Order: sequence, then structure tokens, then C-alpha cells
Amino acid sequence: MYQRPRANERETDQETQAMGEDVGEVLSYAVLESFVVFVTDLGKVFAGLITWTAQEQNIPDIIEVPIQTDGSTSVEGSPATDVQGSFHSFAVFKQNGEVLISNEDNLRAHWNTKSDTRAQSDALTFKRIPALQHTGVISVAFGDYHFHALHSNGQISSYGTEPQGCGALGLGGHGDPEGRLRGIRYRGVGGDGQLLAHCYTRGRHVWFEEEKKEWIRFMTSGGHDPEEAKERLRMSTNDTNVQGEVSEWFEQQGNEWDKHPDLAAADEDGLGAYFALSITAAGWHSGALVLVNEDLADKVKQKCVVVDPSAEEDAESHNEEEPETSSGLPPHPPGAVASTIQWVNNWTRWFLGLPTSADSEAGNLPAGQGYNAPFLHDPRLLNTDFTEPTNHGASPGKGLKYVWADDSFPRLRLSNGTEMPGEIPFSQWKYGRPAWDLDVQI
Ligand SMILES: *[C@@H]1O[C@H](CO)[C@@H](O)[C@H](O)[C@H]1NC(C)=O
Ligand SMILES: *[C@@H]1O[C@H](CO)[C@@H](O)[C@H](O)[C@H]1NC(C)=O
Repeated sequence: MYQRPRANERETDQETQAMGEDVGEVLSYAVLESFVVFVTDLGKVFAGLITWTAQEQNIPDIIEVPIQTDGSTSVEGSPATDVQGSFHSFAVFKQNGEVLISNEDNLRAHWNTKSDTRAQSDALTFKRIPALQHTGVISVAFGDYHFHALHSNGQISSYGTEPQGCGALGLGGHGDPEGRLRGIRYRGVGGDGQLLAHCYTRGRHVWFEEEKKEWIRFMTSGGHDPEEAKERLRMSTNDTNVQGEVSEWFEQQGNEWDKHPDLAAADEDGLGAYFALSITAAGWHSGALVLVNEDLADKVKQKCVVVDPSAEEDAESHNEEEPETSSGLPPHPPGAVASTIQWVNNWTRWFLGLPTSADSEAGNLPAGQGYNAPFLHDPRLLNTDFTEPTNHGASPGKGLKYVWADDSFPRLRLSNGTEMPGEIPFSQWKYGRPAWDLDVQI
């Protein structure tokens, strides 16, 4: 391995000198399953195939990995400064703040190109994810099908697919259906959850506040007035474009709860309630080391809850069996647990785009496909917290409600000019609607 000579040393021979001019000194490297990728002080990236013999592993040859695939016309481009990766995937960091993603298949294809044509080919394919460009990415961590980026503001963004909706992206709350509002497309029951292309423009960030799960759960169940929001919920599930745009709205609304001016005193170091210091991933798993400002985190928590005056009135004038209506959801028959579950399920079914009792009552459905269809007994729907009537994301407990308990499911003007239906005013974008790059390779 080449090393630059110290101040008063000289290159030992010509071969070494050439090495210093063509390759340079290694700054950082990543060992993948069958390649080593490294960056040198010349700002170049190289890769070598690991060759196994009975006694040892060797890297008999290396090739330069071209990183001029960002469509930039400049010949020079920005030098590479770092490479990180594991198993099949790696990321090249450039001095100008760009981060390019590639994998072993691309490396191998490039490796197998004949060396005379390789020089001219712009071969190696990199993904250029907008959310990773000039966004202070410090490190990336790859699992088998997903990966995370740690940004200099202590936030973690997630990309890729979580096999069987396993939650590896760290976005989904309780998985399907809540993960849909974060932009995850699930393929059937127990199917893979893939982050939509919309989410690659500004990124989807991992949230650590338990309350945000409640908020997403509340919205997934239709918000303050599910009947009014019914069509928008349907659109958000049925249409990938709508889901992507709605998920961006939730991303914006869900960020920076700890940055409220009222909470500034508790945020002395300005790092926020949760500041990730490092990230890791492997297989279907993810992890992070997070610095928690507990005082600030508590205050964010407290800010989510208010006393619910209507619940107090209820307590005075009704008996215990009266169901809580502080959730803002329509009333349902008291007492009978089974009917309550059916009632909640009906809203769930709306969101899942399945037939509801209204459809079957209207005679739109053949027998067995309506409200009481066997599907209702799908354990995934019945045994999750989501369908637990006492916990629908509107109230943390008796006499209290979350501050979003009166919020409606958002109504957006979509990027193509279509207006989502409904009776409420249009929802505003906290940081503006982005110009999505949907050509991004996901
Ligand atoms: C969305 O709805 C349309 C019309 O109602 C239907 O034809 C289509 O199959 C649905 N798509 C999905 C993904 O459910
Ligand atoms: C706009 O987007 C929505 C949602 O994807 C779609 O239903 C609608 O047909 C589009 N309208 C136009 C004019 O393209």
C-alpha cells in the first residue's frame, strides 16, 4: 500500500513514484462482500476484487471507479473524500457535499468490462438521491434492502425497502397502515414495504417521539371527521402520487416539534430533543446511538396534551359505560366490544381501500364481501393496537386529549393542479411543496 513520503524522505523508486501519481495514498476504505473500495488523497476512488485462495485473501489488481456520473459537464468534478459501505452497497462522498450510492453488481459489471473499453465507458451506475446531496451527510449505514443516512443536524433519513414491512426504515410507527402516511407502499398483507420515489426528494426522517406515532395513528383513522375525509383517505391509499404528496405534508408537519419558541429555554445546546450521534444497519435491522435531552423531550410530550373539557362534562353527566367521544369520531353503540371493534374496523377498511359497511348496506357487494366478510377476522387487523378502541391516537387517557384531536385529515392541492375533495379549507405546506424528482432510481 502506497504512503506519501514524509517531509525529508524521497520516493524509493520509480514504480512507487508512479503509484503516488496515479493512485495516491488511501484515505478511507470499505470492505464489501467481494470488493474493497477505497478513496485516495488524489480524490479518486478505486476498487479491487478480493481473490480467495486456500491460505489467504488477495487483491491482485485494482481499477479506478469513475464518479463523473452526476450529469455534470465539468471534467474535473469534485474530488471524492470518503467511501462507506458494507456487504453489497457503498456510498462515495465528494468534497462538494454530494453523496453517491452504488452497489457490488455495478462494480462487478464495471470490473468485467474489458480494460480498453472500460476507460471510455461512463459505466459505473450511481444513484444520486436528491435528499443526500448537500444535506450534511456524515455517514450512511446499509442493511440488505434499506439504508440510513446520518445528517450533521443529528437527524436520520431512511431509504429503500423493509422486507415484510419489518419496520427497518424506522418510519412506520406500527407498520401498515400507519406507515402509509410516511410514504411506504406495502405489497399486500405481510408484504414488503417500499419507500415511494417522492420520499427521496427531501428524505423521510426517523422520529423518536412516541406521540408522533399517536398523531399518525389518529390521522390514519381519518382524523377529526373521518366521514368528511373519506375520499381523501381513499385517494391517499389508492393513488401512489397522492400518497407520496400527502406523506411529504406529514413529513413537514412532523419535523421540529422540539423547535417551538416556547421550548427554546430547554434546548440550551440547540441540539434538539433527540440528536443521533451514530447509525448502524445490518440485514433487516437498524440502530442508532442517540443523545436525548430528557427535559426538552418531556416538554415536547407535555405540549402534545391538553385537558379535554368535553370529556369532563361527559364524566359528570354520563355513566362509565358511555364510550368516549373525545376522539372526535362518530358515536357508536355503547358496551358491546364486538360492535366497537367492527366500528373501528370500518374506518380501517376505508383506509385500506376495502369495502365498508356502507358499501354492503347500499347493496353494492355480493354476500361475504362486505362489513362482515371473513377478512374482518384477519388477525392483523384485529390484534393490533391500531384497532384498540381505547387508543385511537386522539387521547392519552380519560379527561385529556391530544392537541391534534380536532385536526382534520389534510386536504391538499396536488402538484398537477388537482384539488383533493372535502369540505375543509386546503392545508398549508409548512416549508412549501417541493418540486419532486420522480425519475430518481429507488
Ligand atoms: C384504485 O381505484 C381504481 C378505481 O376505483 C381501481 O380501478 C384501481 O384498481 C385502484 N388501485 C388500487 C391500487 O387499489
Ligand atoms: C393529477 O393527479 C391525480 C392523482 O395522481 C390524478 O388522479 C389526476 O388524474 C391527475 N390530473 C391530471 C390532470 O393529470
